[in-house]
Amino acid sequence: MKSNLTNIILISFIFLGLFFWNEAQSDTTKPLNVKPGFYFKMKIVEKGRSLVKTFECNDCHTAGYLQSKGNMPEDQWLTGESLGWRGPLGTTYGANLRLLIDSLTEAEWVEKSKVLATRPPMPHVILNAMSNEDLQAIYQFIRYLGPSGKPAPAYVPPGQEPIRPPATIPKPPK
Ligand code: HEC
Repeated sequence: MKSNLTNIILISFIFLGLFFWNEAQSDTTKPLNVKPGFYFKMKIVEKGRSLVKTFECNDCHTAGYLQSKGNMPEDQWLTGESLGWRGPLGTTYGANLRLLIDSLTEAEWVEKSKVLATRPPMPHVILNAMSNEDLQAIYQFIRYLGPSGKPAPAYVPPGQEPIRPPATIPKPPK
């Protein structure tokens, strides 16, 4: 009986030793101070980046992006555009999405995107139709970039002159 107990204690120590040895071994292959959630989050950020590229949000929400043919550092993406779009409904400006996202929770962003109804040429129907997962990914990507830049100029109603000459949206064919 006594030797049985000694055996159990001995075996427990061996297993405990193996466990800690194994932990110490695997620790050397893990980057330091990185939580498992981090990898998951970066996957979502990556998906958001790819959606932003696919739907060309930068074309209108990043000053100089089109002229640079897309060669613009990511930290300048989506900081807003001061070149306006003039049409029958007035002059509009691609909003600074970095500041917008900073002011919203993820749930607020998803809710807003589902019902967003903007003036041209913003393709708001794209956002309206996106799945929650895609909208969340865009949110996480823009949040990962962080707040930056100034708000884009305010909308100018038809008949008023914008400060800087805007691009003109062609009238739809009749
Ligand atoms: C063809 C140009 C264009 C493209 C492409 C575009 N936007 Fe816009 N966006 C605009 C303009 C212009 C406005 C301002 C509209 C207004 O004043 O009513 C705007 C407004 C918005 C707003 C509302 C901002 C606010 O303050 O409420 C959001 C959100 C938005 N865009 C997100 C996006 C996202 C995300 C993408 C990519 C999926 C995108 N836009 C692609 C031109 C564009």
